[in-house]
Amino acid sequence: MNQTQSIQLRTDNQTLDLPVILGTEDDRGIDISKLRAQTGYVTLDDGFANTGACKSAITYIDGEKGILRYRGYPIEQLAERGTFIETALLLIYGELPTADHLERFRELLTAKELLHEGLYKLFDGFPPNAHPMAVLSAMINATSCYYPEITQMEDESTFEIAAARLISKVRTMAAASHKKSLGQPLMYPDPGLRYCQNFLHMMFSLPNKPYEPDPDIVNAINRILILHADHEQNCSTSTVRMVASSGANLFASCAAGVCALWGRLHGGANMAVIEMLEHIHKNKIDLKQYIEQVKDKSSGIRLMGFGHRVYKNFDPRARILKDSADKVLTKLNINDPLLDLARRLEEVALEDSYFKDRNLYPNVDFYSGIIMRTIGIPVNMFTVMFAIGRMPGWIANWKEVHDDTTGRISRPRQVYVGPTKRDYVPVEQRAAK
Ligand code: CMC
Repeated sequence: MNQTQSIQLRTDNQTLDLPVILGTEDDRGIDISKLRAQTGYVTLDDGFANTGACKSAITYIDGEKGILRYRGYPIEQLAERGTFIETALLLIYGELPTADHLERFRELLTAKELLHEGLYKLFDGFPPNAHPMAVLSAMINATSCYYPEITQMEDESTFEIAAARLISKVRTMAAASHKKSLGQPLMYPDPGLRYCQNFLHMMFSLPNKPYEPDPDIVNAINRILILHADHEQNCSTSTVRMVASSGANLFASCAAGVCALWGRLHGGANMAVIEMLEHIHKNKIDLKQYIEQVKDKSSGIRLMGFGHRVYKNFDPRARILKDSADKVLTKLNINDPLLDLARRLEEVALEDSYFKDRNLYPNVDFYSGIIMRTIGIPVNMFTVMFAIGRMPGWIANWKEVHDDTTGRISRPRQVYVGPTKRDYVPVEQRAAK
């Protein structure tokens, strides 16, 4: 990455040379860090749609071409051949792990998979119908109380242990909140099982009935987690980076990421897609009619699982998941009417000029829920699955912020549009409204 040119900006009475920062894939950013000091102007960019918030070496997306790469590796190759844990190490450390490193990290994941008994007790304080994203965020934050060293993470080994703790425990917490909601006994992790299988065991085993998943189900979970593992400066990752920039610890920053992910325009869309498909299916709604409703802005309805801030051609994760949904359902001999409905809805939308003109395509959330439903994961846990997958990306981004000794606290400016100065009015003199 280097600076090769500059762009001239003319303001009221001066011309300013703004440096252009070039990325390794020819991304170009105009460096405006001195703009306010030199001109008095700030930039205004609603939703940060045009703002490069940082320089990052983790994930590359070309939204026009539908390219997604983690540390240079195409998502298609990682999804086809990789495991979630090696992908996690790739994101966090920048290279695919050696066999030794992978083994050491796996041992660490096993060593850190249990929750402190104090944390298990916390589950009792939540109502049975608590949303698992609320529980997850609270539990991740609470975990920092048990490991005070997290606030002083100055050496690599403390960091690696904290990262392993988070990646390992998040799955224990997710499964525990599911068991709690069912009123079933919590299942402890099984040290003999690998990451995805262990998660399925904690989700679905009973003390008197172990769950033995089909290998295709384990592979499907592995793939879903890889595909969700990072996605550059999305809403939750930007949140993690912002919180990290204040010097907040890894667990606090990732707990904030969970909250940001929860919303329906972000990770919560995977729940919303299934709810939408179920609604259309149950009420036998004509698809063209539904699309007309979506196009009518006054309806307040969006086609969930469609559209993306960055992808303007196709989302490569959606393609992989559509294919995966087909294969998993065929292999398990399941005929889910929602898969057929999703396919037809995609077709109807993609033929419509509203979607064509705005470059709206299925995103990662359009097909993921159908696979998770097949596996038996309840709808309100879908966004938790996204969070488990996204954890390595958040950790990698937290590390990038933490390791940058020149980094500054994230603190945007604003253009104030409120009342100008006025004097305090005593309560008895205020006009009734
Ligand atoms: N259904 C109907 N219209 C849409 C949709 C949609 N799903 N998405 C965008 N539009 C329209 C939007 O109304 C606007 O139209 P106009 O130009 O006439 O005002 C235009 O397309 C541009 O949309 P935008 O809201 O300015 O785009 P954005 O980049 O701010 O929002 C988005 C991106 C993903 C929030 C949005 O496409 C959306 O709400 N999609 C549905 C929710 C969803 O599936 N979210 C998951 C995103 S992928 C996973 C993740 O990152 O979490």
